[in-house]
Amino acid sequence: MAISNTSASKVDVVQPAKTRQTTTTILKRRQLSPPRVMTGNERRWINPNKGVLKVLERNMDIVASRFLYPHFSAMWNPYSWLLEKRFALAETSLSPQGWPAKLDPLKVLLVSDIHCGTFLKPEALARIINALMQLEPDLVAIGGDIVTGHSREVNGFLDALAPLSGTSLGAWYCHGNHDYFGGDPEDIRRDLKSIGITTLKNDSVRLIHGNGDFVLGGIDDRILGTPNWERMLAQHGTPHLLLAHNPDFFYRAESSGVPLTLSGHTHGGQIRFPHSAPILRQSRFCLDEGNYAYRSSLLVVSRGLGSVGLPWRWGADPEAVLIEILPPGSTKAE
Ligand SMILES: [Fe+2]
Repeated sequence: MAISNTSASKVDVVQPAKTRQTTTTILKRRQLSPPRVMTGNERRWINPNKGVLKVLERNMDIVASRFLYPHFSAMWNPYSWLLEKRFALAETSLSPQGWPAKLDPLKVLLVSDIHCGTFLKPEALARIINALMQLEPDLVAIGGDIVTGHSREVNGFLDALAPLSGTSLGAWYCHGNHDYFGGDPEDIRRDLKSIGITTLKNDSVRLIHGNGDFVLGGIDDRILGTPNWERMLAQHGTPHLLLAHNPDFFYRAESSGVPLTLSGHTHGGQIRFPHSAPILRQSRFCLDEGNYAYRSSLLVVSRGLGSVGLPWRWGADPEAVLIEILPPGSTKAE
């Protein structure tokens, strides 16, 4: 890895090679729709990023994940079963304006909202991650919320997560709101660093890929973190690729000239009626899942891999997103 750092589609089924876990995971694959063009005026009536409802939801999450389900999970905790049955790989090909023209095609694996903790078994996560790494991405982007209710939850999952850093350009993390629910986020950064995953907290790096280079940035969580755009932008200029847990940073990123932002946070609603809008909407700006475009900027929002509140998803199956990024003018991109 070369780094310069101063501070409803057709579904195919792929059977990957056997992993060290001895069992295999079937990856369902689907293509994301082309980017939905946003006007910038889409707004939800209730702001999900702050207010009484947000505080209520956060406390319900903490009570359920830290105090209720650890006792209840022996009787009913089906999430790891659901994950292996319903996990799918979403795929997309994008050619962002402002992307370095001479950069070789870049294959990015976006894995977000893993939510280590009570609902997830390390063995189930390991099987999914080993299957994903068979795709041989150039870079892994982990879009925040790696824990559910406490920073120590990542500790028992490090062996499962370690293969993510086995790429030519490494694995990079940005903080999500759940990273601040309990304990110290520094523990998360240290634990991830021990397996080769680097957190970008208002930081950026310049990465060399083939005959060119690009800037990767990561901004702290919008709700509970301390995002500092000035600091991030000052290091290597505007990132070409930005990790931002909350997709509602999309318009801020666009105003800074970021060509492509990768987000999670919404879980695609996590529980939704088939072919309908999410019931619980986490994006003020209606950026629920998939590809979006605003002016010259693009956004990918992943449903994520894990679950919060309930050990279940309905209508928004867990996923990771494989993004092929091509230079502007390439005919293969959407
Ligand atoms: Fe999440």
